[in-house]
Order: sequence, then C-alpha cells, then structure tokens
Amino acid sequence: MTSLHKSTQLHNSYEPVVAVVVAAGSGVRLGEGGPKALRTVGGRALVAHAVDALAAGGAARVVVVGRGELAADFSRALGTAPIPWTLVEGGVERQDSVAHGLAEAARVVPSARHVLVHDAARPFVPAAVVSAVIAALRAGASAVIPAIPVVDTIRVADPRPGEATVVDRSRLRAVQTPQGFDLATLARAHDHVRSAGVAVTDDAMACEAIGVQVTLVDGSRDSLKVTEPFDLLVAEAVWRQRTAAIAERTSR
Ligand code: C5P
Repeated sequence: MTSLHKSTQLHNSYEPVVAVVVAAGSGVRLGEGGPKALRTVGGRALVAHAVDALAAGGAARVVVVGRGELAADFSRALGTAPIPWTLVEGGVERQDSVAHGLAEAARVVPSARHVLVHDAARPFVPAAVVSAVIAALRAGASAVIPAIPVVDTIRVADPRPGEATVVDRSRLRAVQTPQGFDLATLARAHDHVRSAGVAVTDDAMACEAIGVQVTLVDGSRDSLKVTEPFDLLVAEAVWRQRTAAIAERTSR
C-alpha cells in the first residue's frame, strides 16, 4: 500500500514522540462485523479512539499499521484525528506489523528518539498512562511497559510433577500498551529477534532478548484489550462513563 499522509503541524516542538498503532489484525475472535480496528464504540472506530488517547497523552504524530485493502476505510476513520498520521501496510505477524511501523516512524520523524507501540485493540488507555510511559522514557529508560496487578487466581493447567499448580499472583502483572522505547534500541531488538528466529509476543520481550532492562509503570483497567464480543460491551460502558463525566464537567 502506498502510505497515506495527513499533514498538519506537529504539536510538540521538542523531542517529538511518535506512536505506532498496530491495527492489521483480523480480529476473528470478535466475530462478525468487520475488522477489529474499524469496529466502532460511541460511533468512532477503535483505531481512532486509540489515536485520540495517544495524542491526549503527548504523542505528536502517529503511524497506523493497517491492512492495505482497507486503506480507504482507515482514512475515513482517521479523518478527524487530532495529530498527523501516516498509514502503512501490516505484516503477517504482529511483530512484522510493528517492524513496518518503526521503519515508517523513523522516516517521517527522523529526529524522533522515542517511540510508543500501541495496539488499536486498546482504545481507552488513559492519557495519564501514556504520559507516564513518555515521562519514564524522558527520564532515561530504554523500554517502558504499563502493567496492572492480576486479580484472578492463576493456575498452571498442566504442571510438571512437583510443581505448584497455583502461581503466586502477588508477583504477576498483566502487560498493556502503549509500550515505550528508545527508537534505535527497539529497531535493533527487532533486527535481532528476526535474524535469530526468537519468538516474542511483545516488543519489551524483543528488547530483553538483547539485554535491555524493562521499566514498569502503572497501567489501568480502563485500558482493556478488545478481543471478544463481551469486551466491546465493556468498552461501550467505559465510553459512556467517560462522555458522561466530560458532560458533567463542562456543564458546571
Ligand atoms: O491478535 P491480537 O489482538 O493479539 O493483536 C494485537 C494487536 O496487534 C491488534 O491491535 C492487531 O490489530 C495487531 N496486529 C497487527 N498485525 C498482525 C497481527 C496483529 O497489526 N499481523
């Protein structure tokens, strides 16, 4: 797909943070209703909510990684995005989509030192979480992830003999996005896992594979990952509660 651009002024005049939003998944677990990133909550596509959230938290520009055949739909969905965006083609695996986004991010903002990598499937990450990730990067961290405590009791389904079946949940954290990185470090980590054939499920794991230490900041339950139909109902509820809170504030 040829990349599409919407050019407006960059918001942050110094050290712009560029975000990569991966939105090229098929979303089959969500069932009928089209590709996940373009499903709507409150009349706005999930990908557009995700871009709004990143902008509110301090991202200056965004690279959206989508499916080429849906370029026109993505362009429509991003029409009212608050920051400049570029759309590039996704890859087979999430990791490939991130790599495409990183290459574009370095191209569109050559001066960018820091990058956020975010799943379009997390439309309602609070601005405070995004800005905490950016603050940790600016304080010198190379890889930053938002995470929340695990509330369920977790059990190993198929334990080895002698292994405890229940895992001590006080030490567990559920990892969210946006994850924040020193852009050059993440590009190096991606090169490494690709050439070494290391399987990773997120970008922080890729950084750890090259020995980079990962910093945790507090995530949020609002930043749910829309995966199954039930999650869309929860997302609608989060949206309704937020719009009601905004309406109440503005009516005061
Ligand atoms: O499939 P899953 O929900 O774990 O995907 C996480 C995110 O990665 C989603 O936002 C999805 O659109 C994106 N993705 C992608 N390219 C792929 C697979 C997933 O951009 N090949």
